[in-house]
Amino acid sequence: MRKNNQSLEHPIILAIESSCDDTSVAVLSGNSMLSNLTYNQDMHRKYGGVVPEVASRSHQEKIATVVQASIDKAGITLHQVDAIGFTRGPGLIGSLMVGVSYAKGLALGLNVPLIEVHHMHAHILAHFIDDPVPKFPFLCLTVSGGHTQIVKVNSPLDMIILGQTLDDAAGEAFDKTGKLLQLPYPAGPLIDKLAKEGEVKYTFPHPKVDGLDFSFSGLKTAILYFLNKELKNDPSFIEKELNHICASVQYTIIDILLKKVILAAQKEGINEIAIAGGVSANSGLRSALEKAGQQYGWNTYIPAFQYCTDNAGMIAKAAYFKYLVADFSGQDVSPQARLDW
Ligand code: KG4
Ligand code: ZN
Repeated sequence: MRKNNQSLEHPIILAIESSCDDTSVAVLSGNSMLSNLTYNQDMHRKYGGVVPEVASRSHQEKIATVVQASIDKAGITLHQVDAIGFTRGPGLIGSLMVGVSYAKGLALGLNVPLIEVHHMHAHILAHFIDDPVPKFPFLCLTVSGGHTQIVKVNSPLDMIILGQTLDDAAGEAFDKTGKLLQLPYPAGPLIDKLAKEGEVKYTFPHPKVDGLDFSFSGLKTAILYFLNKELKNDPSFIEKELNHICASVQYTIIDILLKKVILAAQKEGINEIAIAGGVSANSGLRSALEKAGQQYGWNTYIPAFQYCTDNAGMIAKAAYFKYLVADFSGQDVSPQARLDW
């Protein structure tokens, strides 16, 4: 296998993320992120959710352009790349297939190692792209469109799930609420924005789930019943109260999440606390974590916005840690919609 002149500690890694509706390519040189470009597929908005076949086709159309743009932005040539990182899963199988196949082709053509990455590990390892980095072991609340987990991170390659959602993810709770409120998909960022103009006027029940697991499907049902009841009295209830409904729902989701983080920190005796994943872009969650940090004496770690939602920069960073221990994949690797932790 070809080796460039780079030292082993400073490889140039090109990484591809295509697990859902973002085609993203990054170039990482040692610790420097040279480029991290994403094509967002906004055609799903009109369907109220990601349409898997449309997503796969769009990845297929855009991937070569995004790879070239990322290489150009990084100011390198493809032949300087030392390894190819890619998301193996979890995610939409058709979307993953495009990224995995492209990564394999690149690795084969360039004769460099291929490095598979677990999408959720990468969300967590995004914390190592920029300073300050958390100290091991730390706890990470990982909240995305498909996952909600509390993870104990012992090292970049050793992570244990302490608790997770039994049904919907926190991002889904935002997106499904958005659907009930007739907001476009993904509703999380919009609810975040509208909540800033509203007050926490309405209360919703918290799920009764033991330990460090979560549940969000009951909240969705409670919101549905609440809206149906209010709409019967006043058909323009949503229109009039939208900001307050958003503020109240967001407050409830954050409260459910933070109560479990507090419990995990107490149980584990850990005060290094991080958040990761798309929902970590939520301004309410970010400030609530900071406040809790002051109250409980934690060091809190909140990723930069560009590393919260899906991006290939985090895939490149996760691949980098595997490169250091030569943990490579063969050409027979296949994408996995549900990938073991
Ligand atoms: O990590 P991510 O980009 O993709 C997955 O791996 O799922 O997360 C997407 C999720 C969506 O549910 C989206 O609504 C949510 O993250 N999200 C937010 C915000 N930005 C993205 N939720 C609440 N507030 C935000 N600002
Ligand atoms: Zn994600």
